[in-house]
Order: sequence, then structure tokens, then C-alpha cells
Amino acid sequence: MKNILIVGAGGQIGSELVPHLRGIYGVNNVVATDLDDNKLQALSDGPVVKLDALDGERFSDIVKKYNIDTIFNMVALLSATGEKDPMLAWKINMGALENSLNIAKDNKCAVFTPSSIGAFGPNTPHDNTPQDTIMHPTTIYGVCKVSGELLSNYYHTRFGVDTRSVRFPGIISNVTLPGGGTTDYAVEIYYDAIRYNKYTSNLGKDTFLDMMYMPDALDACVQLMEADPAKLIHRNSFNITAMSFDPEMIAAEIRKHNPDFILDYNVDEVKQSIANSWPNSMEDKCAREEWGWNPKYDLSKMTVDMLEKVKIKFDKGLI
Ligand code: SER
Repeated sequence: MKNILIVGAGGQIGSELVPHLRGIYGVNNVVATDLDDNKLQALSDGPVVKLDALDGERFSDIVKKYNIDTIFNMVALLSATGEKDPMLAWKINMGALENSLNIAKDNKCAVFTPSSIGAFGPNTPHDNTPQDTIMHPTTIYGVCKVSGELLSNYYHTRFGVDTRSVRFPGIISNVTLPGGGTTDYAVEIYYDAIRYNKYTSNLGKDTFLDMMYMPDALDACVQLMEADPAKLIHRNSFNITAMSFDPEMIAAEIRKHNPDFILDYNVDEVKQSIANSWPNSMEDKCAREEWGWNPKYDLSKMTVDMLEKVKIKFDKGLI
């Protein structure tokens, strides 16, 4: 990777991936694009360009202008938002991918596109979910993710495009809030722990989901894209996980630092039914074997860091 383009750079992952990649590959070699001017402003220590990822012509011009060799396609409407307007989610999620793949084909770029635990469905084995298994998701988000995995593999075998992907679990971070995801509660709980010492969970007790702290997610992006292609048996997409917990477990971890922290419940039926259709915990040995995946943060280490960083934001009046 020398000249990198990040599409959807203002989102939850993109907004941290940009500085991470700029730190490794050089500030001027990582171009951030997004629709939102304010989000681009926050990334303007290096090149930023306003782009609607569905505008293929402009997308292609930017790739040519900056001599891009790697595209990170981070555009997506998340699972709960997707259910509000399924056809809009299909249009955006698949449209951004279609443009990324075609532009990569024409300009010899590699493409990273995140897939998700959302690619699985109710009839997938929920515990130790294998790498290769039944994938019949019941959300439009999941339908886009499975379609995207297949399309990316197709572009690899048919046109030789270097497509790679991971199935991210819920990503927990302290910079940009996620929006409209089923796993968002695991971010919100830290913010509310600092602000109110209380959190009302929209997922019920015993709802186990895979999760990951952002620094590990960023490492996964770099490690996979730098991996020796000869070692990749899979491509689109690798199961990766760092931890699996339910709301009671994360609350118990927070109580080690804030003993009076209160957790109660007000279950969101849409999110709950989505969460019920996803794995409790994935098995990620193919990623470990094929490109050395090895996360650094577990629930307790992540909780220490999240509480510390969110408290700083609170003290500075940023939240
Ligand atoms: N975090 C995503 C969501 O909840 C899953 O990939 O929609």
C-alpha cells in the first residue's frame, strides 16, 4: 500500500482508520473522502475530497488523480438503520461496493471492504460460528454483506482484483459514535457510565455478541491488506473476534471501576430480533492461521481504556 483512498472516511471506523493509516504510510498518502464537509474538516491534516461514493465518475477521477493503489470502502448504513429503508440501504451499501470494485479493476487497485457478523442469520450455528457455514441473514444489512462477499470474491477470481475483507463484530471506540447499529449499546454504555453512572440497555440480558476494541480493528485492516497473498486461502471474508459478552458482563466490568453503576433494560424489539439472529461467538482460526490475526484487547483491558478516554472527553466538555 502506497497511495490509499478511504471512502466513507467520516464514519465510525473511517474516522480512526484515516489517522491510523496516515501514521504508518504518511499523511499525504492517505486521501479521505466523505459526503459530509464537517467530517472531512476533522481529517484535513492530509488530503480530503468531498465524494458521494455512488458518483462513479468522480470516484474514478479521484483514484486517477492521486494514483491510488488501495481503496478502503467503509461506506455502509448499519443494521437497524437499514431496516428503516431497506432499498436505500441496498442502494448505498451495494452501490459504493460496485463502484469500488469496478474502479479497482480499471486502475489495478486492491480493495478492502468490511463484512460483518450481520452476514450470518438465524440458522447459522451460533456458538463458535465457523468460517465457512450457512449464511442466510434476515436483515437487508446482512443481505448486502453476503452479496458483497460473493461479489468481491467474483471480482478476484474473474478479474484478478485483490479484494480482501473481514467480518467485523461490534466495534467499540471512543472517537466517533456508531449510528444505527445493533451493537451500539456496547459503546453507549461507557458514555452513560461516565455521564450518569447508569445505562438502560436496548438489548436484553443473555444477549451475547462478538465485539472488538477499535485499535484491534485498525490493526486487522492493515495486517490483512499487508498479508502475503500466497497465504490467503480465504479472502471475502474472514471471521475475526476479540471478545464475546452480554450486557451483564460489560456492566460487571464497569462496576470494577464505578461500583455504583446501574444497568437496567428497555428492550428495542427490532434490535433484539437482529441480535438474536447473529452469532453468540465466532471462531476465527482461519484469520489467525492465514494472516496472523491476534487481538490485544479483552473486555477488561478495553473497559479500563474506554472509561479513561470517555472521562477525558467529559471533563473537557466534549460530551
Ligand atoms: N455493528 C454493526 C451493526 O450493529 C454490525 O456489523 O449493525
